[in-house]
Amino acid sequence: MSNYKVKIKGTGMYVPKKVLTNVDLEKIVDTSDEWIFERTGMRERHICSTEGGEWPTDMALYAAKDALKAANLEPNDIDFILFGSVTPDYKLPNSATVLQTKLGITNNCAALDISAACSGFVYGFNMATAMIRTGMIKNALIVGSEMLSREVNWEDRNTCILFGDGCGVAVVGRNEDENDQSDVLATYLGADGTGKEFFDQPIGGAVEPITEEHLEKKNYFMQMKGREMFKVATRTLAGNAKRVLEQTELKLEDVDWLVPHQANIRIIETTGKLLGIDPDKVIINIDKYANTSAATVPMAFHEAIQEGKIKRGDIVMFDAFGAGLTTGATLIKY
Ligand code: UT7
Repeated sequence: MSNYKVKIKGTGMYVPKKVLTNVDLEKIVDTSDEWIFERTGMRERHICSTEGGEWPTDMALYAAKDALKAANLEPNDIDFILFGSVTPDYKLPNSATVLQTKLGITNNCAALDISAACSGFVYGFNMATAMIRTGMIKNALIVGSEMLSREVNWEDRNTCILFGDGCGVAVVGRNEDENDQSDVLATYLGADGTGKEFFDQPIGGAVEPITEEHLEKKNYFMQMKGREMFKVATRTLAGNAKRVLEQTELKLEDVDWLVPHQANIRIIETTGKLLGIDPDKVIINIDKYANTSAATVPMAFHEAIQEGKIKRGDIVMFDAFGAGLTTGATLIKY
């Protein structure tokens, strides 16, 4: 079996034009800019247009075009689209096939949606890594794209303030250049279904389709036990970092950048303290975008590259967790 190096060839992101600030939220629910910023680190989030043009696959289209350009590849060079989202355009067909058509891909490449909540991008990335490593595919388009504004109850201050819409993508492919050291160094994926009630949306699926009563009670939205999630999140994220490092000769000091899931600034800071990582090495953009679920890691990664923080050759760690509870981490030499 082949053992190809795996390289991130290009990245991209898209956020909707409409910005919703904490001050705007003060007019919608009983909250304050001060409370939200102190408890979460969030200042504003972007919200998709409901008129069209910013559906999850549209955002993915714009982001993917930029990522393909950066990778110097054509849409038909993609062999697999892995689309991480809990807010797909439709129940059927999957968003990956919709994106395939929007990109004008005519090679019949495989197209799969991944429902792993906030870990969706890392799940896709690690799965694609295995397929590229073994020669099964050459280039994959990994997407995290979410329109969470559709699934939150805008009357519930416990949840509606936390989320935003957006998309991040990465084009990942075979690295055949002997002199290019870019590679994926370690991966980890896991889940613990016993925590499924900490963050769920049980109504609207096969078991309990939405009825008039649900519409009246408005109980068909996402619901979260914030404190429980918080505790599990910090432990899990810190544990993931150790798991991927253990697979290599590297130590925490060798990691140049940690790109964690952006759920709450306090989760990120607590995780950083548990690990003992230099806070300057942690990428944070939660103030601008809030929690965009599967999109946070690729958006934060892309922005950090654009800002000149993350450079080729740097050791970068992705670290995510989310509803399920799903989790995953990746260690790369970018
Ligand atoms: O991506 C994965 C999913 N996301 C997460 O895992 C997030 C994990 N959890 C968190 O980020 C935090 O737990 C929250 C930000 C959700 C909540 O922060 P907290 O410090 O755990 O607050 P709390 O839930 O303990 O609530 C404290 C108080 C409560 O009032 P009482 O009971 O102390 O009187 C809440 O009712 O804050 C109140 N509260 C609010 N006040 C103003 C809750 N939401 C708001 C709000 N504005 N939006």
